[in-house]
Amino acid sequence: MKNAVPGFDRYDLYRRAVQSPEVDVRFIRDTYVELTGRDPKVLREDFCGTFAISCEWAKLSKSYKSIGIDLDPEPILYGLTHNLPQLPRSMRERVTIHQANVLAPDLPTADVICAMNFSHYIFKQRNTMKAYLLNCYSALNVGGVMVMDCFGGPACQQANVEQTEHRDFTYIWEQVSFNPLTNEALFQIHFKDKGPNGRTRKHNNMFTYDWRMWSIQELRELMQETGFRKTHVYWEGTTRNGEGDGIFSRVEVGEECEAWVAYVVGEK
Ligand SMILES: C[S@@+](CC[C@H](N)C(=O)[O-])C[C@H]1O[C@@H](n2cnc3c(N)ncnc32)[C@H](O)[C@@H]1O
Repeated sequence: MKNAVPGFDRYDLYRRAVQSPEVDVRFIRDTYVELTGRDPKVLREDFCGTFAISCEWAKLSKSYKSIGIDLDPEPILYGLTHNLPQLPRSMRERVTIHQANVLAPDLPTADVICAMNFSHYIFKQRNTMKAYLLNCYSALNVGGVMVMDCFGGPACQQANVEQTEHRDFTYIWEQVSFNPLTNEALFQIHFKDKGPNGRTRKHNNMFTYDWRMWSIQELRELMQETGFRKTHVYWEGTTRNGEGDGIFSRVEVGEECEAWVAYVVGEK
């Protein structure tokens, strides 16, 4: 249990440093509407962790339901005690959580399935990623849509540390290693905050990700092989000073950049 330090809540800092579920759900809904012309009703959030996206989805419309799936009981319990109680009862009733492996058969069906925060990078073998996509394809309703985020660029092919200051804590994203033979990469999240005595303290290795860096093309090809009718890439626009502007649009050619984030989307 990595949360046992007094006054320190790793899931809370992770949420504030990394997640934007209110932005994610709008992107997911708008993409579904753009591609299908219909309104999605059921979202399945794979690798849901504390299921922040599932909770936000329930806020978007009275007719929306969400299903979160994660293997690990710890983040699920955190979501049940911290995120879900923040919703009014009528919304809570539309959120269902399953502790399960996303590779398991007979998972709940949905109009749209999302795999976010690069969680699917946990699969190291092509066959496993293919089995996962096949599972999603089978569980999607007719005309359903799969949304996966991904990241890459030369900056992600070497060890490096990136530090971001927040009002009351520091977020540290460390890439520990990269193996160019396999594209495997190890990442860790650390935090710094002030303890009860006002002294700065460091919380090392609060989250660890042992991933394979998948390319957009690999994911698209696997989607095609598993039956998806069409695949699309949504690429982030840039501000005048060259930063990502948070606006993603459909492209067939990306811009060269040191580090990028994009979405790969498949239509059943
Ligand atoms: C990078 S975290 C992302 C959590 C959350 N989606 C978010 O955006 O912050 C990855 C999550 O995937 C879960 N996970 C890893 N392998 C899984 C599997 N095979 N099936 C279901 N969940 C899995 C982990 O327990 C963890 O909560």
